[in-house]
Amino acid sequence: MKKIIIAIDGFSSCGKSTLAKQLGAKLNYIFVDSGAMYRAIALYFLQNNIDINKDIQVTEALKNIQLSFAFNNEKGSSDMFLNNINVEEQIREMAVSNNVSKVSTLKLVRDFAVAQQQQMGIAKGIVMDGRDVGTVVFPTAELKIFVTASIDVRVERRYKELIEKNSNISKEEVKNNLQERDYIDSTRAIGPLKQAEDAKVLDNSHISREEQLAIALQWANAIIHSI
Ligand code: DC
Repeated sequence: MKKIIIAIDGFSSCGKSTLAKQLGAKLNYIFVDSGAMYRAIALYFLQNNIDINKDIQVTEALKNIQLSFAFNNEKGSSDMFLNNINVEEQIREMAVSNNVSKVSTLKLVRDFAVAQQQQMGIAKGIVMDGRDVGTVVFPTAELKIFVTASIDVRVERRYKELIEKNSNISKEEVKNNLQERDYIDSTRAIGPLKQAEDAKVLDNSHISREEQLAIALQWANAIIHSI
């Protein structure tokens, strides 16, 4: 059977990665969380005090960054590695969340990440989620899904996730971070978050993960069986 590329874009914390991961597992496709790559880059910049306003510093830093994913059998998903160190936990912390959108506005950073993402899709059979996957990374993807959910639902989900990890963050802080990231992500000059014209919209505010997966699987199978 022919393999396709599935591009999933949407706002922060609207369940894109969950859907992409489930679709990948069902179809036996590679799943790539492109946001994890931007998060790992932001982490490196923080650790090394890189001034993102100085192109020379950014260029030099990117030369020293090696990104890779490795499957974690226990979790059933891939962990992000930065220079061969597992940073999966660290990249989800607030320090990174508060910086990653600014780091990912940089052309140097986007060129670096997009080139690697495109390489991963050469053999197809891939589900990638992010902000510009259907518009910039894989503009010819056979299936593009734009996921949305109301801001209140997204805050609730993200808050629960962070509390489960023992964070003592307030809902207010979570909401501010999400809104700020959404604003930066959708207004930046290069690769802004935007619904591709040929994307199918999936609003999951009032449906379960299982229902969301069923809808997306139906879309994917219809395309896979028609090519
Ligand atoms: O999906 P996420 O929330 O983990 O992504 C973190 C940040 O990375 C997000 O605020 C914007 C950036 N990002 C991006 O610019 N382009 C992508 N394809 C994916 C993420």
